[in-house]
Formats: sequence, structure tokens, C-alpha cells
Amino acid sequence: MADQSFQKPTGTQDIHGRYQDYFWKIEKVSRAVSKQYNFEEIQTPLFENEELFIRSVGEATDIIQKEMYSFETKGGDKLVLRPEGTASVVRSYIENDFYKKPQPVKFYYIGPFFRYERPQRGRYRQFHQFGLEILGVKSAALDAQLIQALRSIFKELKLEVIFSINSLGDENCRPEYKKKLKKFLNKNKEDLCEDCQRRLKENPLRVLDCKEEECRKTIENAPQIVDHLCKACNKDFKEVLELLDELGLSYELDPFLVRGLDYYTNTVFEIFTEKEKLALGGGGRYDGLVEMLGGRETPACGGAVGIERVIEAMKKAKIKPEKEDKRVFLAQLGDSAKKRAFRLFEEFREAEIPVYETMGRDSLKSQMARADKVGAEFTLILGRQECIKNEIIIREMKTGKQETVSLDKVVEEIKERL
Ligand code: HAM
Repeated sequence: MADQSFQKPTGTQDIHGRYQDYFWKIEKVSRAVSKQYNFEEIQTPLFENEELFIRSVGEATDIIQKEMYSFETKGGDKLVLRPEGTASVVRSYIENDFYKKPQPVKFYYIGPFFRYERPQRGRYRQFHQFGLEILGVKSAALDAQLIQALRSIFKELKLEVIFSINSLGDENCRPEYKKKLKKFLNKNKEDLCEDCQRRLKENPLRVLDCKEEECRKTIENAPQIVDHLCKACNKDFKEVLELLDELGLSYELDPFLVRGLDYYTNTVFEIFTEKEKLALGGGGRYDGLVEMLGGRETPACGGAVGIERVIEAMKKAKIKPEKEDKRVFLAQLGDSAKKRAFRLFEEFREAEIPVYETMGRDSLKSQMARADKVGAEFTLILGRQECIKNEIIIREMKTGKQETVSLDKVVEEIKERL
């Protein structure tokens, strides 16, 4: 016997059972809604070149400084497990010349991401995101459509959420604002945490993202970027908000929302639960990123939602994913019946009627107990006698009423009753 037992790595989960039902529900809704808004699926590798994320997410961010799973391959390549999806989609857009396709190109993705974070509730080292990216056209209509598509997903999941919105300006107005912010923060340097004193040197905007109580207090009085937007950025932001108003989408303006990644320009947003303010997702415009990664000038925007967070929010709000709609159980007794039951199961499957079974069990009692447990509405009982007569018993579980029908007609019969 092996003397060692293994445990899953810290911050990871085995996804199964009820949790998997939630997962599947969110995935199903996200895919369906994305398709309605004309997004196409993209799957990129789980690992990429380290430099791709350093350049896009930004050196001063927590993701790059503390959270990357980096490794060197036997061939000497420096790779990382992807901490987010946007950089990979942009890499793919450039590498595959997607600018030749009709613009904008709209992608959605679902999959695991990896960040070496301190695990706590709602924060994992392997987590899953559902994301949307729109590349190739600059228009406030696309920012609004992106936010609307995400809202539609939450609406379908029946989850009440709040969108926080801000604009980060662009390369014309942001440098000036950064200078003002730096000046203000330098004046209040003693009130900032150690990390922020470092961030202040590297990128003062990162200080606005700090969650420490002492820093939050200082930030309250800091200059706000919305007061320093250039004319074009101001107009763009107004247009996005007007479109959201038109769609009846409520949002809160948060003048200090900067996001934890450096690639954003103009409109940025985060999605929170109403009560606990749990961050479910976020995103924004990133007009400079394609060029920064070696592509041609390409406007873009996107957003991503953390699936584990959405599950937590659904559980808190007592929203349950529906169970798989199976209402029939097939029980068999004896060798010949078991063989025939195998064929019958296929007949039901081909008729698209899902059926529970426990073919590995022989005792009728244990099969009936199972039928009860899974909450089957009808149990079909096939014994030796029935097999010989080409018949089968239909038992209505609620009333215990039983009747015998022809084996050749049972699929039709059940179809009518469901
Ligand atoms: P992000 O804000 O870093 O953005 O992540 C998006 C969401 O992923 C978060 O709001 C959260 O729900 C979830 N998430 C992040 N880290 C963890 C974790 N350790 N455990 C559980 N959930 C987590 C991005 O990743 C951007 N790529 C979003 C984007 C797409 N921007 C433009 N396009």
C-alpha cells in the first residue's frame, strides 16, 4: 500500500456535484448570451510567454509583481500560466492577422486562469473566467454593448448586480492627471501603506486601487481623473453613459476606479453584488494594447467575470441552478432483462429522453431505492417475465400505480406522459 496520500494544491478546487451544476449553468447562460450578441468563441493556450503579460498587464501591478506562475521549460523558454485572458486574445489577433476579418471581431472565452494569491473566500489560485473582447472599432456603442451583454448574463442568472464606471482618459490627458495625482500623493506620503509608497514611484494610478483602509482615506481627497479628461475623452465617456441610460442600465460613477491592470484607456467598469460588494467582474477599453504588443493601431474593449465569484453570489442570493431534467429511471432484473435494458436505454437516448439507470446493480430493491433518491417520476421495470412477453412495467412513483405496456411502444408511451 502506498503510504502517501495526496491533497489538491492550495487555492484549487475539485469541481463536481452541485458546484458543477452552478458552473454548468453559468457557462450555458454565458455562451448563449454571447452568441446572441454575435461573439465567437476563442480558446488560447493555458500558458504563454512571460513577457506577453509583463508588457500588457504592467510591471507595477500585483499580478506581475506577486502572482504569476512562471517557469522555464527544458528548452529555456520563459512561460507563465495565464493570469488573465485579454493579453492572449490580443496576441492571437496579431498573430492570426485578424485585422483582415470584418471589424470588429468579437470573441468570448471560458476557462481556467492562475494567480498566486493568498487564498480566501472567493479567491483561488486556479479560478475560471468568462470573458468578452471586441477588437477593431472605436465606438462608444461597443463599450455600451459590451456592458449590456454582461448585464444580460446576470439578468438571465437572476442575479442583482451593480456596475461601477469611470473613465481613465488616454495618452493625451492621463499624463497630466498622473502628475497632479503624484504631487498630491507625495504630499500625503506618510499616510500611505508601504506598498503604495513603492507604487507611487512606479505608477501613481495603482495607489487608487489599494484596498488598505489608511490609503482609502487619503485617496478620498485626491484629484479625480474625470475632472481632467481632454475634450475627446470627455465626449466619449458621455456617449457611453448616454447609451447606458438609453438601455435603462443603472450604474454608479466611481471616480477612483482604476482596475488592477495597466492596459486600460477611457471607460472602465467593475461589477459588484448589491449587498456585499463582492467583485464579480470588470473590464474596459484598451485602445493601446494591440500596438503595444507589436500590432497595428487597433481600438478594443472587453471584460471578464469570475465564475467562482458568481457561484458564491448565486448561493448567497439563494439562486439554485435547475437540476438536469431527468424524470425516468430504468430498472432491470435478471440477465436477459439486463441485456434488453441496454438496448432500451439507447432507444430512449436516441429519442432524446434522458434516463437514469444503475446497470451495475442487480437487486431490484437497491435500484428502486436509487430511483426514489434521484426523484424519478416514472420507473420502468424490466424483469425476466416481461422480457419473454415483450412487455415492461411503468410505475408512477408518486402514486405507486403500475401498468404494463408493450416494450416496442414504451418510448412513445413515456414521451406522451412527460
Ligand atoms: P480582473 O479584474 O483581473 O480582470 O479579473 C476579472 C474577474 O476575475 C474578477 O472580477 C474576479 O471575479 C475574477 N478573479 C480574479 N482573480 C481571481 C481569483 N484569484 N479567484 C477568483 N476569481 C478571481 C481581468 O482579468 C481582465 N482580463 C478583464 C478584461 C477583459 N478586461 C478587458 N477584457
